[in-house]
Formats: sequence, structure tokens, C-alpha cells
Amino acid sequence: MEPYRIKAVEPLPMTTRAQREAALRRVRYNLFALRADEVTIDLLTDSGTGALSAAQWAAGAAGDESYAGSRSFHRFQEVVSELTSCPYILPVHQGRAAERILFSALLSPGSITLGNTHFDTTRANVELSGGRAVDLPCREAQDLDSDEPFKGNIDLRRLKDALCGPDASRVAAVIMTLTNNGGGGQPVSMDNLARAATLCREHGVPLFLDAARFAENAWLVTRHEPAYHGVSPREVAEEAFSLADGCLMSAKKDGIAHIGGFLGLRDPALAERCRLLLVATEGFPTYGGLAGRDLDMIAQGLTEVTDPHYLRSRAEAARHLAQLARDAGISILEPPGLHAIYLNAGRLLPHIPPHRFPGHALACQLYVEGGIRSVELGSLYLGKEDENGDPVTTAPFELLRLALPRRTYTLSHLNHVGETLARTAENRDRIPGYRLIHASPVLRHFHSELEPT
Ligand code: F0G
Repeated sequence: MEPYRIKAVEPLPMTTRAQREAALRRVRYNLFALRADEVTIDLLTDSGTGALSAAQWAAGAAGDESYAGSRSFHRFQEVVSELTSCPYILPVHQGRAAERILFSALLSPGSITLGNTHFDTTRANVELSGGRAVDLPCREAQDLDSDEPFKGNIDLRRLKDALCGPDASRVAAVIMTLTNNGGGGQPVSMDNLARAATLCREHGVPLFLDAARFAENAWLVTRHEPAYHGVSPREVAEEAFSLADGCLMSAKKDGIAHIGGFLGLRDPALAERCRLLLVATEGFPTYGGLAGRDLDMIAQGLTEVTDPHYLRSRAEAARHLAQLARDAGISILEPPGLHAIYLNAGRLLPHIPPHRFPGHALACQLYVEGGIRSVELGSLYLGKEDENGDPVTTAPFELLRLALPRRTYTLSHLNHVGETLARTAENRDRIPGYRLIHASPVLRHFHSELEPT
């Protein structure tokens, strides 16, 4: 059961099927363009969409809004340095600001970053600094159906080869993303992280954690890595941070906050370069683009997020939704992580080819059937077509992500999602594919317009 009771509620938007069909036509079948009050269950993202605890609201009310040196900053700094053991903590307004600042300070044209799988904004910020982001996911990640517990790992052999290879002098950083969001929310084992850290040290390359979901990663380590049975998620998290030279954090995930993030660093010279960029582009180093109340709410969220009762219930909610999907005959990316379930839309809808976007087709159908919003991670997101709409590149898998906001939906909301999945799967043959009628040149899934074919 959920280890909390509900103190403030917000009505769910209720709509009819006819209203949803009209809304989809109006937004040209782009779910990002819906008004949120046209969505009943919003599983678009787990970022910034969680419910705050009473203690977080109270901490926010006590926030100190002084421009410099606020009480809120000092509390934030204390909590974050205790967790990460990093002496230099720079607050930022969200994760991608930490990425921009770190990569601007660290990379130069021609630099390379290596990682288990860079998240899309991480990759974009590496590229904006003139660098190239190279993903080295482990081999197990390619099999969606296997229940290998640590499919988020980096391929250590390829990492070693890259650190010794002809481009080794251009490798400016290794970035381990915990959990591996781009790779289906799969965790990284402590063994893999420690070995990656050793390789980095041997080759003099700094290791950074993209720690957006560090607590969820730690929970899965305590469940599936024998050496960590009986160790608390908080202890695992502290050990993970201690292995790295720094971290990038979007507090919108495992900070359980609506906005915010930070950069944690150990190198004083790098911290100084980042601080200069922070002042120029985010804010004075003791607020970094956040209000004092945000800093307090994040500090409180970071102390709540490693609570084993909370993490167990989050894992169980994800497992419950995963089972509902399997019961409906829909394959998922196995095993389920904590922050999202990824549906294998390509397998469910074999009559829709990749360039007619099976993941997007399933997303539209879940909205029409049950008012559920989700996000495609397939060829609409990663593919390219020529001017006739014929595929140039397609995604390796056609997936649909159902993300789970923290502490927001109850098991009965998830049962509604399960019933919608079952009805949708029963009528799968009638689900149409989609044709792009307008696409923007970058990050096209946000702004594209489509029509059913
Ligand atoms: N790193 C990871 C692993 C992420 O999942 C995200 C955001 C970011 C960095 C960027 O952080 O949004 O605070 O700027 N992921 C969201 C998602 C958007 O829906 O998965 P941000």
C-alpha cells in the first residue's frame, strides 16, 4: 500500500470519448499540444509532476528569499553535500542547466563524452558545446524481453577500448545515467559503476553521474545485487556518489520537487569555472535560478526519497502496472523499472510500419480510449524520413513510455490504465498508423503535426 495518506486533492479532468476525439483532431494528433485539463491520467513524464509532502510544503513556507546567503541555501547545501560528498554544490533551475554549465566549462570542439546512454538533453548540451556523445550500453540492453536485472550498465569492454583507442585524448568525461532513462529506466549495478570508476581513474578521465533517479537506482541495487542485500538505499546512494568526480541532478525526479537541480563537484578549478557561468546565466551561486522555498523543498525531498517504504511502494506500483500490461497481452520492456513502463508497440501493432509510428498510434489510442497521455519513444522521436515520407532511419525499437509521477496516482488510477490497455489491445487491428504532415527540424516529436492513414 502507499505509505502515506492524502491531505489535499485535485479533481481529475473527466472527458467524453467524443471530446477526446475532437481534441486530438484539433491538436493534429500531437499529445504535447493538448491542454492538461483535457487529460485524465497524465503519464507523459515523472519530471516535476510529483506530489509534495506536508513537510515539503512546510519547508517551503519557511523558505528564506534573501538574494545572497539565504538560510534555505545553507540547508540545501548541507543536505546535498552530505548525500553526494561533493564539497562544491551549485543550484540550478533544472537538470539541463547543470548539463549546459558543466559541458560549457569542460568540453571544447572535438571533445567526446562516453556514457551508458546519454539522455536527450544531455546529448544536446554535449553537442552544443562542440562535443560528441557516444553511448556504450551493455549488450543485455538489446534484448527487451530478458529479465536481466542491470540492463542500464555500461559496456565495460567498449569503455576500456574507447579510453585506450585512437580518440582517447579527446575523451573529456564519462557520464553514467542512474537509472538509464534513455535505455528504458534500467538500473546500473554498483559493480559496473565501480569498475567504470576504476577505468576512468586509470585513464585520468573524470566520471560524472547523471543522478536524476539515484534513489530508484539504489533501490534496485538493494533488491538485485547480492552484495547489497540488507544495505539501505541511502547507503547505496552515498556510495554511488562517492565513486564519481561529480554529479548532475534534475531535482524534478528524485528531488520530488516541481523545479530545480544542482551540480556537485570535487575539483575546485572546475567548480570555479562553473560558478562564473552560473552567475552569468542562472543566478547568484546561493540560489542558481531558484527561489529560497524551492531550495528548502528539494532539501526535504532528498531526505524523503530514499525512504525504503516509499521506494518499495513505488516499485510495487510499477510492477502492478507492468502486470496489467502483460495481462492485456502487451509486451513491455522487461524487467519493469520504477519511473516508467515501456510498452512494446512495435510488437503489438505489426500492421503499422516504423515510419507510420506504432508507438504514436498506441499513444493516440490510449488517449481516445481512456484519457491517458503517454509519450512515444520510437521512430517519431528518433527516426528520419525523406521528402516522400519514406524512412531514412528508424528507431531500434518502437516503444511507448507510461511514466509514473511520484505519489500522484493511486493503484485504482493504475487499474483504469490497465482496463484501457486491455480494451485497446482487443481492438489492436483497427488502430491506424500516422503520417507526418509537419515536422520541425529539431526535437520534432514536440512540435510535429500528424494525420491518421
Ligand atoms: N537526465 C535525465 C536522465 C533525465 O531523465 C532528464 C529529464 C534530464 C537529465 C534533464 O532534466 O528536465 O530537469 O532539465 N527527463 C524528463 C523525462 C524530461 O521526461 O524523462 P530536466
